[in-house]
Amino acid sequence: MKRIRICSASEIPVNGMKSYDTSIGVKVLIANAGESYYAYQGLCPHQDVCLDEGFFDGATLTCHQHLWQWDIATGAPVGLAEAPLERYELVHDDGEIFVLQSSALKVSELFKGVSDAAIARLDALARREEYESLSTLYGVGDPADDLYILESGRVEFVIGREDRTSLAGFMLRKGEVFGWAALLEDHPRRIAKAACVEKSTLLRLNGEEVLKVLADEPASGYLVMRQLSTLITKHLRSQGGK
Ligand code: FES
Repeated sequence: MKRIRICSASEIPVNGMKSYDTSIGVKVLIANAGESYYAYQGLCPHQDVCLDEGFFDGATLTCHQHLWQWDIATGAPVGLAEAPLERYELVHDDGEIFVLQSSALKVSELFKGVSDAAIARLDALARREEYESLSTLYGVGDPADDLYILESGRVEFVIGREDRTSLAGFMLRKGEVFGWAALLEDHPRRIAKAACVEKSTLLRLNGEEVLKVLADEPASGYLVMRQLSTLITKHLRSQGGK
């Protein structure tokens, strides 16, 4: 896991908090509660509001916008909040605060429950690529050789050709997988255009290489195929408007 320096511990007020833009493209909130420091997503999971503009009493963090609250020790929702905070592993070393960047593979829906050995092999195969806003990842009719896992940023999908196009949703949660047609027999061609609508970091894996790893690890392979069928079903339901 990569160690990312965030700040000096002395910059964080006692029982206070501060947020930072980081080199991994996300805002991170650092909070102090006595002897302990915590790192969480810097933006509210409800809407894009900076959490450091809210309130913190050393135990509970409150977003000032609609008063969602979280337990600072766990990130678990309290009261009105409907979603937990994404927590980052934090290291406090010699007065400096770092977070550990975990692989998006670990949190992806498709690879949930896969063995550590298989994750390590997939991680070694993954190419981490950075794209500027408005970069096109693939277009309609392109070969579906690779699948992608979103690490940070936002990707939008458009179906149709030329001026007869319509928006087919977007992805912004770390670990979201798209382009999974690369795992299907005979590699169907892309049926949508995918483009980054903000600066984004993606893990890119070749479908055939992933299938080889899964064939060597049958228990993990079985899980991934089950999770893939769930993803496809979800996708078909959303396309059918059900
Ligand atoms: S934006 Fe934070 S609670 Fe609504």
